[in-house]
Amino acid sequence: MNFKSSNESATIFTELMIPSYANFGGKVHGGILLSLMDKVAYVVATKHSAAYCVTVAVEGVEFINPVEVGELISVKAMVNYVGNTTMIIGMRVESLNPKTGVVKHTNSCYFTMAAKDDQGKLMQVPGLEINNEKHLRRFAEGKALKEFSKAKRKMLKSDLNHLSVEELKVQLKAEKVLFASDL
Ligand SMILES: CC(C)(COP(=O)(O)OP(=O)(O)OC[C@H]1O[C@@H](n2cnc3c(N)ncnc32)[C@H](O)[C@@H]1OP(=O)(O)O)[C@@H](O)C(=O)NCCC(=O)NCCS
Repeated sequence: MNFKSSNESATIFTELMIPSYANFGGKVHGGILLSLMDKVAYVVATKHSAAYCVTVAVEGVEFINPVEVGELISVKAMVNYVGNTTMIIGMRVESLNPKTGVVKHTNSCYFTMAAKDDQGKLMQVPGLEINNEKHLRRFAEGKALKEFSKAKRKMLKSDLNHLSVEELKVQLKAEKVLFASDL
């Protein structure tokens, strides 16, 4: 099997936040950041796999601090884990106010990217060569995340399906929800 170090595909990308990225409140749209992160995830995944890649899932997106126009956003990303046909790309996003030098942690998350061949079929990705403890821990976390995400999908699909409408209404009665009289 072919193995590659995550250092070969690790990427840091920086972009200036321009006024057209802002929402009505003057802060940068979360969607702009997601789009930027998706591109960086693609770069890392395609470098590791030497293949066309697609985004399968994104876990753990939280916008911890708002991003202002004029700030520099840096996305640091690397392959944390590889499965058979997918890779988990871990990333940390920081904003830098270039005038004050203040750096804020904006977001950390995980993109699952799949490699596809020229026929659009999933293909095996190279294994990951681990050279230090930090990367070893990230690989173990990636494996745990993959299992957690699989369990979550299973739970969302099946666990609530067996409940009747009446049972669901009882379960949700303390929530902020108004049931139509004919439900
Ligand atoms: C995601 C996709 C590849 C799964 O295909 P599938 O044939 O159902 O996949 P399988 O169940 O055989 O799983 C294949 C791999 O995907 C992973 N996977 C499948 N669904 C997943 C999900 N929702 N989240 C994370 N990983 C997932 C599996 O764990 C497996 O990983 P591994 O090969 O590394 O072990 C397929 O649905 C797809 O191509 N989706 C469209 C992706 C796309 O076009 N993205 C661009 C968005 S516009």
